[in-house]
Amino acid sequence: MSEDETSSGVDFGSRRVREEEKAPLIRGLFDSVASHYDLMNDLMSVGIHRLWKAEMVAWLKPHPGQVLLDVAGGTGDIALRALPRLAAEQAAALGRIFVCDPSERMLEIGRARALDQGILAGIEWVCADAERLPVADRSVDLYTIAFGLRNVTRIDAALAEARRALKPGGRFLCLEFTPKIAPLLQPLYDLYSFHFVPRLGLIVAGDREAYTYLVESIRRFPRQSELCEMIARAGLDQVRFRNLTGGVAALHSAWRL
Ligand SMILES: C[S@@+](CC[C@H](N)C(=O)[O-])C[C@H]1O[C@@H](n2cnc3c(N)ncnc32)[C@H](O)[C@@H]1O
Repeated sequence: MSEDETSSGVDFGSRRVREEEKAPLIRGLFDSVASHYDLMNDLMSVGIHRLWKAEMVAWLKPHPGQVLLDVAGGTGDIALRALPRLAAEQAAALGRIFVCDPSERMLEIGRARALDQGILAGIEWVCADAERLPVADRSVDLYTIAFGLRNVTRIDAALAEARRALKPGGRFLCLEFTPKIAPLLQPLYDLYSFHFVPRLGLIVAGDREAYTYLVESIRRFPRQSELCEMIARAGLDQVRFRNLTGGVAALHSAWRL
């Protein structure tokens, strides 16, 4: 690939790749780590990701009968937490949650986890990209994306899709890592991110590169205030964010009015 091509491309961790290359690379990466994904999340975050996801669903406040679109839903962490609050009796059989993700392997594991928990209805697992959601305009009450926006090729296009899919009065929530934390903690965080996480990825998942990508993609993600501006530019209103665990992650909330 020539320098001209790479400089006009998009970030893939610390590398630049052509725009059309990024989605297949990311899909391959998540297909390959899928079987270790849940275990790695627990190990890397010492279980803290569970608290963040619980906080996301608590802030979302899903109501029975609402339709939730969980984009980049992976192995179903958000869907499985939200389902009991959405699927009161009559709603359970209606497929009130759509988990969209381009990685078939991540979805397969999510589907199997749901079955293990005795969940036979209420969640539909759909192979799709955040930039091209297979749902009608103004058809969902709630849109969530947890640790997914960082992976999409064009964040602006994904946010525009979120607005298109939401009904007027619908809620948008994004959970994502932040690129910078308190300056005093930054050296320790760098050591953890660039040394511990890739090594753990190698030992547990046999894939150092995937977890190096994870860390590098976090550093390239917009800061909280920049993401607020992008969400507002996509036409969503009342944009706010909450920092989690000293700003290691953040929840961004907005509404389609
Ligand atoms: C870090 S995982 C997060 C999974 C889940 N939301 C969670 O919090 O555990 C990121 C997910 O984003 C998905 N993903 C990557 N690129 C995507 C895209 N363009 N559109 C939608 N999802 C994407 C991956 O396949 C993967 O399942």
